[in-house]
Amino acid sequence: MTQIFAHRGYSAAYAENTMSAFIEAEKAGADGLELDVQVTKDGEVVVIHDEKVDRTTSGSGYVKNLTFKEIRMFNANKKGEKKELIPSLVEVLEWMQTNRLICNIELKNGIFPYEGMEEKVIQLVRKYDLSNRIIISSFNHYSIVLSYRMAPEIETAPLFNERIYMPWVYAQSIRAQGIHPKLSSITEEIIENSLKNGIAVRPYTVNKDADIVKLLKINCSALITDDPVKALKIRKQYEKRP
Ligand code: G3P
Ligand code: CA
Repeated sequence: MTQIFAHRGYSAAYAENTMSAFIEAEKAGADGLELDVQVTKDGEVVVIHDEKVDRTTSGSGYVKNLTFKEIRMFNANKKGEKKELIPSLVEVLEWMQTNRLICNIELKNGIFPYEGMEEKVIQLVRKYDLSNRIIISSFNHYSIVLSYRMAPEIETAPLFNERIYMPWVYAQSIRAQGIHPKLSSITEEIIENSLKNGIAVRPYTVNKDADIVKLLKINCSALITDDPVKALKIRKQYEKRP
């Protein structure tokens, strides 16, 4: 069965990468979450997509130049009514003790290398005993390898947005158990070959009905979507087919 992962939480209906978006994805019955992490000036791992807080919050500036205390003053739900805070990774991992979700932590260290980020994330995952429910992904594949070396018990998956040749061979070479390709960068054949070779495939960002059905049909490992409610509904109908 194809797992449904909520991209930045249930971001089609709630402010992205906020506790509400995660809680609502879990309530809806998603199998997993995808979230992005950056590191503050004082070393806190926080859940936010961009290097700067400007697009998604009421604040401004680079995450790396702000303290956690400063970051927590901003509203991460600029367009909505209810104030949301930028979550710390700790907050999310603590909440995960109350459910069975899988969590894909995307290390956003392609622009700023955030020295020690991998170690901090791994230390927290181990502290909360979540090694078997976490997938570490990144566009920074050096960081993927470093994470694997530090914590071979935690699954890793390189992200890529362009078609690469035999990605399952590449994944195996860096000891990743899965790949997270942009949907447009893969074909059904690539997915099938990856699966045959024991590499999980979780494409992003899959929001169109027809694409969801296509991936269900070939039993893709998971799909990462902004709208887990819609994807779950489609999966339910698909499972009921005669
Ligand atoms: O992890 C999949 C996807 O989230 C990668 O792209 O820009 O949405 O973080 P982006
Ligand atoms: Ca992401």
